[in-house]
Amino acid sequence: MAIDTADTVTATLHYFSPPEDGSKPYIYINADASTGQRQRNWVTVPHEVQVENIRGKEDTVSLDTTGFQYYRRSVKHTTFENDEVIEKEYYPESIELVKELTGASRAVIFDHTIRRRRPGEVEDTPQKRQPVPQVHIDQTPESARARVRRHLPEGDVPKLLAGRFQIINLWRPISHPAYDWPLALCDYRSVDRHNDVVPTTLKYPDHDGETYSVKFNPGNKWKYLRGMSPEELVLIKCYDSKDDGVTANFTPHTAFEDSTTPKDAPLRESIELRLLVFYD
Ligand code: OGA
Ligand code: FE
Repeated sequence: MAIDTADTVTATLHYFSPPEDGSKPYIYINADASTGQRQRNWVTVPHEVQVENIRGKEDTVSLDTTGFQYYRRSVKHTTFENDEVIEKEYYPESIELVKELTGASRAVIFDHTIRRRRPGEVEDTPQKRQPVPQVHIDQTPESARARVRRHLPEGDVPKLLAGRFQIINLWRPISHPAYDWPLALCDYRSVDRHNDVVPTTLKYPDHDGETYSVKFNPGNKWKYLRGMSPEELVLIKCYDSKDDGVTANFTPHTAFEDSTTPKDAPLRESIELRLLVFYD
């Protein structure tokens, strides 16, 4: 059978390479103000991969198979300039949306990040985040459970931890279509969950979190939605307590430089919400 390469781009993605001394990997959430580097005890390695544009084939992915799913839903809040207003306006409509799309009984947003690409700028602080050019998964099972304990009322925690829960990111472009530095997502079924992911301490100013770094696997199948518009969104599953060996458990993802980006495309702007999602 001929391979259809018409809508596939070749891209360089940056994967994890473990510390040589065998110590547990760590990385700081905030970059050094002068160099723009995030302190860490490991390096990334570039690998050339194929990334398939699945526009027109969005129904080939889903939260429980590939780990991510695209939807078209416009949004009432569109300015995304002020955190307080975002929390007041964008959070409630997004909670309702995620419950509608997933069938969840409860959804709690614990964090959001706005990213605007600024070529040549090294500042990378909570107010000035840029696209993330390395393959990662936001949580591990350990840090997912810690998020439940941290953000939900103490009395609810035992029951919530006993039921099915997920961490899902709601990612959407803001202002204009995200042709520039789009987000690539890796089909869960093409990842070896026991050998490809490595727990990595994420150093916040006041506490430690944990993410998965991701080692290269030549079988990885990467997808993206070219020119995603602000009326489109992707739900990215970062964790699922349902552990049946079939249901997608997580989704490696990374921003990448897309050689097909139109020359005059505006720089990428996006917002991602992080949600704890519970099922009765
Ligand atoms: C995320 C994420 C990176 C980006 O949404 O979790 O890692 O470049 N985003 O948007
Ligand atoms: Fe992420």
